[in-house]
Amino acid sequence: MTVRMDATVISFADHDSLASHIANQLSAVYTIAKVHEFPDGESCVRIDPLKIRETVFVINSLYHPDQLVLPLLFLAETLRDYGGKKIALVAPYLAYMRQDKRFNEGEGISAHYFARLISEYFDGLVTVDPHLHRIKSLDEIYTIPSRAIHAAPVVADWIHNNIKQPLLIGPDSESEQWVKDLAQRAQSPYVVLDKIRHGDNNVEVSVPQVQKWLKHIPVLFDDIISTGRTMIETIKHLKQTDLAAPVCIGVHGIFSGNAYQQLIAAGAGKVVTTNTIVHHSNEINIAIPIVKAINQLKF
Ligand code: R5P
Repeated sequence: MTVRMDATVISFADHDSLASHIANQLSAVYTIAKVHEFPDGESCVRIDPLKIRETVFVINSLYHPDQLVLPLLFLAETLRDYGGKKIALVAPYLAYMRQDKRFNEGEGISAHYFARLISEYFDGLVTVDPHLHRIKSLDEIYTIPSRAIHAAPVVADWIHNNIKQPLLIGPDSESEQWVKDLAQRAQSPYVVLDKIRHGDNNVEVSVPQVQKWLKHIPVLFDDIISTGRTMIETIKHLKQTDLAAPVCIGVHGIFSGNAYQQLIAAGAGKVVTTNTIVHHSNEINIAIPIVKAINQLKF
């Protein structure tokens, strides 16, 4: 592991557990940025100038990005004012990757605009399983050097250590890239279903053919659990088979509204996520792969 005593790791307070773990692994200087919100809703970022080195890693997951991004950009600028020369954003969850085309006439393509904005304020980017679908690589939209790491190895380890006979299930064709890889690593069979999304909260999923694997524990895997509809529809269909209650694994647990409770109510045996977004379902630690990516980032 490369030691980075010449670098600073900084985060906003609510990301400090993953960030302090990363700083510790790197032996980097660790500090927290504070945000003061004024009565008029404007904000002011404050850092400890004595803790800022020339290379800075800002650790900040970007779920609910609209409230976060302005303080984040102010932080990047404040860091430069205090001597930061190379500033990388480490966003374990990278926002706006799903708005990768004009779905309706008149809409913007937010993935592109967001990438332009981040590329303007930061010099490098590290993230975990960004939602690459129509956009095949971060380099298509980000103009700064980036590293996108996969959670698959740590997820496969978790499956290996916790589930005896897994059957990996991907809810849609987009998940095949992760499910196939995971199944190979966990040496288990896998099936991928067909999904049609009719709206934000309206998803239809095909019935899986699973007769051969009835003794296996179904493990639903997806990159993102947001409204939970994709997994809930899949669980509904699994109920028409004789498979056991599934374990639902998401890399990024956004859980909008009461999605987590709805998943459990729908029949999930267990819901597990990585700690790219802080949630009580975090059982899979992504810190070590992130540290490796930080060390590989050339910026
Ligand atoms: C979509 O393409 C993603 O891979 C996930 O399937 C999706 O984001 C899950 O969203 P939700 O939980 O809202 O169904």
